[in-house]
Amino acid sequence: MILVTGATGRVGGALVGVLKRQGAAVRCLVRDPVRARGLLGEGIELAQGDLDDPVSLSAACAGVQAMFLMSPVAADLARLQVGAVRAALAAGVKRVVKLSGSAWTLGRTPTVTGALHTEVEAMLANADLESVCLRPNAFAQTSLARLPAELAQGDTFGLAWGDGRVPLIDLRDIAEVAGHALTMPEPPAVIELSGPTDLGGAEIATLAADLTGRATRYRPLAAESALAAARGRGEAPFVIEHLHGVFERIGQGLAAGPADGVAATLGRPPRPLTEWLGEALRAR
Ligand SMILES: NC(=O)c1ccc[n+]([C@@H]2O[C@H](COP(=O)([O-])OP(=O)(O)OC[C@H]3O[C@@H](n4cnc5c(N)ncnc54)[C@H](OP(=O)(O)O)[C@@H]3O)[C@@H](O)[C@H]2O)c1
Repeated sequence: MILVTGATGRVGGALVGVLKRQGAAVRCLVRDPVRARGLLGEGIELAQGDLDDPVSLSAACAGVQAMFLMSPVAADLARLQVGAVRAALAAGVKRVVKLSGSAWTLGRTPTVTGALHTEVEAMLANADLESVCLRPNAFAQTSLARLPAELAQGDTFGLAWGDGRVPLIDLRDIAEVAGHALTMPEPPAVIELSGPTDLGGAEIATLAADLTGRATRYRPLAAESALAAARGRGEAPFVIEHLHGVFERIGQGLAAGPADGVAATLGRPPRPLTEWLGEALRAR
């Protein structure tokens, strides 16, 4: 039995699809089973619970061989994930596959979220179970979430990347790698993941123009105006601090540099940005 956390979210939801296609026995820890059933369909078990509720976690872990562990960007990320690892250890779960931060958000000068991911990674490295930490670069689907709507209304899109370049990853590749990491023999402790190539705003504009046949321009945004927009959307102060660190590092060029984890795990290259971007632009 595989336990999936975050199944109603982006990566977790895609992972459930991968595991269903593999015919795996899947249980999902969900806060709202009715909503989860609507999103995920039949053929999986739902365990009602919360990462913040140890009783529900230990019930969900019973009989589980491997757990996919994630939680959203928030100040309680490490506390929730450490609690889930404790429950996994107590239930005899053999392997935890953690959705961690981008490699460039961890390390010596981490972002606020990178510091929390590092705390959980360190716990897993010392825990008496197998663990795989997936370190994906920025997701195409979240980094460019507003691009299709902006291009439906005009010919420019904005990003607070400056001249930075990022090998954006299609999160469906993360889900496929996670599906393998949950069951593959002797998995590596860390898998760094990215899309195939570094892309800056101007290159993304060219790709979008090729897909739509319309002139498209990248509009570099000052980080402060992107953060003000995020505040306006009601994002929590922790998320604003997280975004600040992310924009700063992308602008400094620290997010550049593709990783080979998708090809090494799946034996095929990562999806190009045009796959998701084409779908997203056609859907508008
Ligand atoms: N976006 C990026 O570019 C990027 C890059 C590298 C790493 N990451 C990492 O990826 C993660 C975000 O992944 P995502 O975009 O797939 O997340 P997401 O779509 O926001 O999904 C969050 C999931 O967590 C569940 N959840 C939230 N609080 C919970 C709780 N207390 N108990 C149980 N479930 C809870 C949500 O369930 P409900 O439906 O009940 O709310 C939802 O299923 C973060 O850890 C982030 O650091 C992101």
